[in-house]
Amino acid sequence: MPAKSKQKMHLVVTAGPTREYIDPVRYLSNESSGKMGFALAGEAASRGHKVTLIAGPVHQDTPTGVKRVDVVSAREMLTVLKTVFEDADALIMAAAVADFRPARKLRGKWKKEPGKQGVEVNLALVENPDLLATVGKNKGGRCVMGFALETSQDMKNALRKMQRKNADFIVLNGAAALNANRTSATLISREGVVNDWQGKTKKYLAKQLVQAVEGWRELRLREDR
Ligand code: CTP
Repeated sequence: MPAKSKQKMHLVVTAGPTREYIDPVRYLSNESSGKMGFALAGEAASRGHKVTLIAGPVHQDTPTGVKRVDVVSAREMLTVLKTVFEDADALIMAAAVADFRPARKLRGKWKKEPGKQGVEVNLALVENPDLLATVGKNKGGRCVMGFALETSQDMKNALRKMQRKNADFIVLNGAAALNANRTSATLISREGVVNDWQGKTKKYLAKQLVQAVEGWRELRLREDR
């Protein structure tokens, strides 16, 4: 039985990829399986917290006690996130949000032009909103944890992301974490490196990360008293 936390919170977790449609049958997305986010949501619910999980398109069972809202695109995820974050105490942003979307979604299927094999075609893209930065800006006393996926495990970039997105924590991990059962990660707070884990299960990491958020909140509540 996991230990129940003393201070109950409403935790919002985002998970999985987002999908950005080009036409009715094609889209841009990424390798994220949602495993990390679902493990986080399950761990938090088993510790007695209220959990809202905002999930992109994934094949994962909803953990017991978790309220799940399914979304498809980054902009849809942002709309839901803005609403549920209003009533939340903390956010863990584990979703692999697509940075770009097609500038236009075609109404019909994108057709090839005859005789153009091997000729370059271009797909116009526009940048998606940054969800974490958007809600992080007005987070007030709420705890916000983001992830930083860096192919080079670049600590400086992770620190910059924490600042830019106004997060209290950043979990730095590499591309090998995507769609994997085990993962290596470094947890960074505003004070510096908190911990570093190598080859741990996502369930194990989820417990450590939820405990970090609980610890942050308990300290805050004690300071406010
Ligand atoms: N994120 C977000 N909205 C986006 C892109 C990312 O909220 N449009 C969040 C992710 O959920 C993650 C954090 O920001 O918690 C960092 O995501 P990452 O992909 O590592 O960084 P990006 O901000 O996308 O920057 P870059 O792709 O240049 O590394």
